Amino acid sequence: MQLSPHRLCVAPMLDWTDRHCRYFHRLIAPRTRLYSEMVTTGALLFGDAARHLAHDPAERPVALQLGGSEPTDLARCARLAEEAGFDEVNLNCGCPSDRVQRGRFGACLMAEPGLVGECVAAMIAAVRIPVTVKCRIGIDDAPEPDCLVRFLEAVEAAGCRTVIVHARKAWLQGLSPKENREIPPLRYELVREVAARFPNLSIVLNGGLRTPDQAVAALDWAAGVMIGRQAYEDPWSLRAFEAVAFGPPPPRDRREVVAAMADYAAARAAEGVPLAAIARHLLGLFNGLPGARAWRRRLAEGMHRPGAGPELFLAAAALVADRPSPRPPAHDLARGNESLSPAV
Ligand SMILES: Cc1cc2nc3c(=O)[nH]c(=O)nc-3n(C[C@H](O)[C@H](O)[C@H](O)COP(=O)(O)O)c2cc1C
Repeated sequence: MQLSPHRLCVAPMLDWTDRHCRYFHRLIAPRTRLYSEMVTTGALLFGDAARHLAHDPAERPVALQLGGSEPTDLARCARLAEEAGFDEVNLNCGCPSDRVQRGRFGACLMAEPGLVGECVAAMIAAVRIPVTVKCRIGIDDAPEPDCLVRFLEAVEAAGCRTVIVHARKAWLQGLSPKENREIPPLRYELVREVAARFPNLSIVLNGGLRTPDQAVAALDWAAGVMIGRQAYEDPWSLRAFEAVAFGPPPPRDRREVVAAMADYAAARAAEGVPLAAIARHLLGLFNGLPGARAWRRRLAEGMHRPGAGPELFLAAAALVADRPSPRPPAHDLARGNESLSPAV
């Protein structure tokens, strides 16, 4: 059976999943689909497009997420994404921030399925790469599940084949974006029920997935799972997600990742990228191991010092123990090359 290309994804996260973070995640999880931060059509068309589109081919498969609601602008931006080498373009219909609402895009678009259909159709007509959508299960007091059903009908009719559903509604008034990721309850069953009504859509489940067991349960009925905060806060856990989604990933040691990120940081430094812009994403790499706190502290203190260079990564990694506990589990010993990994 052909596995969906969206079987395991890392969520788009503003200020977090920039190109440096995606390069780092790719070293850890070779088969996971990665998403950019949301980029607005205005930023691409009237701002520094080259900066927003810059990425390393090693990040692939990688999707560019767009924020906008003007079909012509979205079509132009989708073409820019395709020309820049992205593998997919995704339309944000899930962000509830005030700024985004003022621009009439993000989650408030769930109230305008007709317009979203026009946007999706225009983007699909403009590119050959897949056009996907990320949404919520609904907004405010819109009836459930009708809001999501009407929305999916519109995007499917427009030609979209993959929709990522963050399994909680968004309150457009009164909650901050952060609260909107925590307070509305998760409704996986609702997504499952609705997914069953759209056999021709690949539905990817997002929201609150913290453990590989949860991913396994979701993959029973969803085409894929999208992991956000868990992937950022404990990046090495992506390997356990990869293991359940695709089978064990090729052996890799956290120190190999540190060394590769040091090389990457050296290359970026030559382009003027400050070390801290890269180092900040690495803070959670050793979570769960003795010395993880020392690693974090050394990085956090050192990354902003004038003249800080990639050797900081190696020095900080030297503070971490090689073993998760005095007596590692037998299967870890057998694996040898995975000496730093309690799981996968
Ligand atoms: C810091 C941060 C920034 C986010 N930025 C975006 C974004 O740009 N576009 C988007 O569609 N969702 C964004 N999200 C929402 C995530 O993509 C995801 O839907 C949400 O965090 C729920 O998944 P999780 O529980 O696995 O984190 C953001 C989330 C966080 C924590």
